[in-house]
Amino acid sequence: MNKPLLIALDGNTELANTLLAQTGSERGDCIVRQFPDGESYVRILSDCRDRDILILCSLHKPDQLIMPLLFCADTARELGARSLGLIAPYLAYMRQDIRFHNGEAISSKIFAKLISQYFDWLVTVDPHLHRYKSLGEIYTIPHRVISAAPLLASWIESNIENPLFIGPDSESEQWVSSVAHLAQAPYLILEKTRHGDRDVDISSADFSRWNTHTPVLVDDIISTGTTLLNVIAQLHTAGLRAAVCAAVHGVFADQAYEKLIASGVHRIVTSNSIAHATNAVDLSIALAAAVNELYF
Ligand code: R5P
Repeated sequence: MNKPLLIALDGNTELANTLLAQTGSERGDCIVRQFPDGESYVRILSDCRDRDILILCSLHKPDQLIMPLLFCADTARELGARSLGLIAPYLAYMRQDIRFHNGEAISSKIFAKLISQYFDWLVTVDPHLHRYKSLGEIYTIPHRVISAAPLLASWIESNIENPLFIGPDSESEQWVSSVAHLAQAPYLILEKTRHGDRDVDISSADFSRWNTHTPVLVDDIISTGTTLLNVIAQLHTAGLRAAVCAAVHGVFADQAYEKLIASGVHRIVTSNSIAHATNAVDLSIALAAAVNELYF
């Protein structure tokens, strides 16, 4: 039987290389480029006939990546692929899970319907589940969800002395509590009120008893950094040690990375779901195990 073909579309070459080895796949070649008017050009150079195709594509630039991804998937199918799996370590469009205002698109459902139409299975890492209890509520294809908590916990245990884990909002409790539990350290959960894309209020807490600890802010996503910057300002006012920011997915929109560095954080740590200088936690073994479970 032919080995599966792994086509990487998101430029995360390091993760692609480790996944090639760990899934026993062959590299699939695909050219993706943009026409001057912004349309996408896709050409698969590898022979897809009767092959199982794995496409690696984190969706941190969703609108830019989705067309090449769907063109690639549909073309592979048309050229005779036996099966198509999507490895999307970061799954976009999970946050609009409800209609907050009349007429809004519930984009999480629409996006899930689209991906479910084109792929036979999906592997992802800590999707933003808030009002959905599981991914299966919106994704209709077989899927595996990896939790980065054990890997983050183990990095923090080995690198940070006396951590106090802090979650900036109620959704973060699912990640913060498991990381804190695994690292056997205390945690606090704050309350966030979002007024706009770059405007949040976060409840304050009595941080004074924690001044011998290193605050470790844990969230699933750092997007604009507004959430974490708000908490960092509070910790600074309370006179706590410089904080560590630990996130599963470092999206870093709006120069969030530079803003966090300028705020005086001690360290920013992310998983390699999205390639970035802050990557300290490698997901490849967990991703490969999930792929092997679904594929074989
Ligand atoms: C949303 O609730 C997520 O868990 C994150 O807190 C959020 O995406 C972070 O966004 P930003 O970095 O723009 O504040």
